[in-house]
Amino acid sequence: MTARPTWIAGNWKMNLLRASGVELATALAQNVSSDDDREMTVFPPAPFLAHVADAVAGSAVSVGAQACHPAASGAHTGETSVAMIADAGGTVVLCGHSERRAAGLSDEAVGERARAALAGGLRALVCIGETLEDREAGRTAEVVTRQAAAALDGIDSVDEIDLAYEPVWAIGTGRTATPDMVAETHAVIRAWLRERFGAAGDDVRILYGGSVKPANAAELLAVENVGGVLVGGASLTSDAFLAIHRAR
Ligand code: PGA
Repeated sequence: MTARPTWIAGNWKMNLLRASGVELATALAQNVSSDDDREMTVFPPAPFLAHVADAVAGSAVSVGAQACHPAASGAHTGETSVAMIADAGGTVVLCGHSERRAAGLSDEAVGERARAALAGGLRALVCIGETLEDREAGRTAEVVTRQAAAALDGIDSVDEIDLAYEPVWAIGTGRTATPDMVAETHAVIRAWLRERFGAAGDDVRILYGGSVKPANAAELLAVENVGGVLVGGASLTSDAFLAIHRAR
């Protein structure tokens, strides 16, 4: 199996509107070539996922959803099914972002969503990461492996799975984990993946996320076992996000 390309993923969270989202996506699509050895995906808010998908159609930029519900359909007000995401042009679902976990999503519920994404033919980008309290108590390795185990419970193949390590204390705070901290935690996650999935565990990309910017992207992407970055704030302008995509 050929190595998966370095993945530059942009989580727009609850930002932008249809016109500004389409404008940003169009600028990205015009500037990213399919010959590039890096992959780019944006995760717009659900109401304009389809508009963004249309804007990048035929380009090297792909589109994902920030969350999904595990049920196929039914009485789940405010939720989005995997089939709806696929129908709108999405190819990947972010599962278990810390802002969803903080809103009450359990480890097990993250697993349900990852399994639903795969069953619906999409990829899953599963987010894991410790809080500041966990880190200070020396529980980082325990927390990230517990979250990974629950998220990948019942999953036999990691062909369509990637992980994002996002220390909660580094998200949106301007505090980035140091390259040493990233190397240490990514090594823990890689070891767990190998134990659980054998050699296939080596194919899984482990993205880093948390205050990634043009100024620190090259350094973070160079860390061993870092297969990409998941970017929040700095993915909201084409200049910053393209600079991260180019950073090496
Ligand atoms: P940030 O967000 O880059 O704004 O810290 C990252 C994320 O939450 O995915």
